Amino acid sequence: MSRFSLGFWRSKEWNYNSQQLKDFVNQSIELGITTIDHADIYGQYSCEDIFGSILKEEPSLRQKLQLITKCGIKIVTKRFPEFNIHSYDTSKAHIIWSAENSLRNMNTDYLDVLLIHRPDPLMNADEVAEAMIELKQCGKVLNFGVSNFLPRQFNLLQSRLDFPLVTNQIEASVLCTEHFNNGNIDFLQEKRISPMVWSPFAGGRIFHDNTEQANRVRSILFELAYKYQVEIDAVAASWLLIHPVNFVIVLGTRKIDRIKTAMKGLTVNLTREEWFKIWVASHGRDIP
Ligand SMILES: NC(=O)c1ccc[n+]([C@@H]2O[C@H](COP(=O)([O-])OP(=O)(O)OC[C@H]3O[C@@H](n4cnc5c(N)ncnc54)[C@H](OP(=O)(O)O)[C@@H]3O)[C@@H](O)[C@H]2O)c1
Repeated sequence: MSRFSLGFWRSKEWNYNSQQLKDFVNQSIELGITTIDHADIYGQYSCEDIFGSILKEEPSLRQKLQLITKCGIKIVTKRFPEFNIHSYDTSKAHIIWSAENSLRNMNTDYLDVLLIHRPDPLMNADEVAEAMIELKQCGKVLNFGVSNFLPRQFNLLQSRLDFPLVTNQIEASVLCTEHFNNGNIDFLQEKRISPMVWSPFAGGRIFHDNTEQANRVRSILFELAYKYQVEIDAVAASWLLIHPVNFVIVLGTRKIDRIKTAMKGLTVNLTREEWFKIWVASHGRDIP
């Protein structure tokens, strides 16, 4: 995976035509971003299709990219009228059906990584493993991972597989420190697994939210942005990038200039004290 990844959750709202989308992806590749993050449900099951149409028009793009998608959530849409309620489904049949659908939608023969989108309280680890093994053996999916899993859920699934899960995609940002506090990031560091980070800028809230937490954090981000002569996005990205767990950052912006700005985070080396200034501002209290 590249250190930054392009997230396509919001891509239906971008209203890009296929040329604009190809330009966006090609310009990102030039910047070294080759990992693409999707989920079957994004855009009410439409974002994979939109992406697939550019792979059809420009097949040479496929080999330059690592395609990641997710399965395991069902939402109520016209596209799948048989799904009656919003629910999780990690049955073997659904995982295989979903992976095959994603392959068709994205006009590709294989997925680089398939993630189980969220922990399913009804998950039968043996069944999930059977689905993964079958998809791997026939070459439809090269690697597997999870998303939003806690360590015990990760370990449960891993215990049924003789190949390693490659990532856990979790939320983390200067405004969301949940997985630092619940032991998940320590667990992933112990396993030497790079987590993918979703909503690295808290879905845009670091720029405009008016909560006390966001105001406190933003004022430190501006102070450090001034010191390092970058934008606050770069400081917020750096806060994640310098962490030893080796995060892969999944950006959600539609704008290439904002990607470039965020990538300047690679050049900002926050000191430990600066990192903790942000931590303290985020928590709203001093460390113990
Ligand atoms: N696994 C999961 O459960 C899960 C959940 C959520 C998301 N994800 C993945 O993570 C990806 C990223 O999530 P996210 O979209 O929430 O990420 P994000 O990068 O934190 O937020 C993106 C939003 O911030 C705005 N933004 C970015 N830079 C900005 C700036 N300088 N000034 C003002 N606004 C700015 C973007 O608007 P513009 O487009 O206008 O720049 C966009 O609306 C998703 O696409 C998806 O692939 C996974």
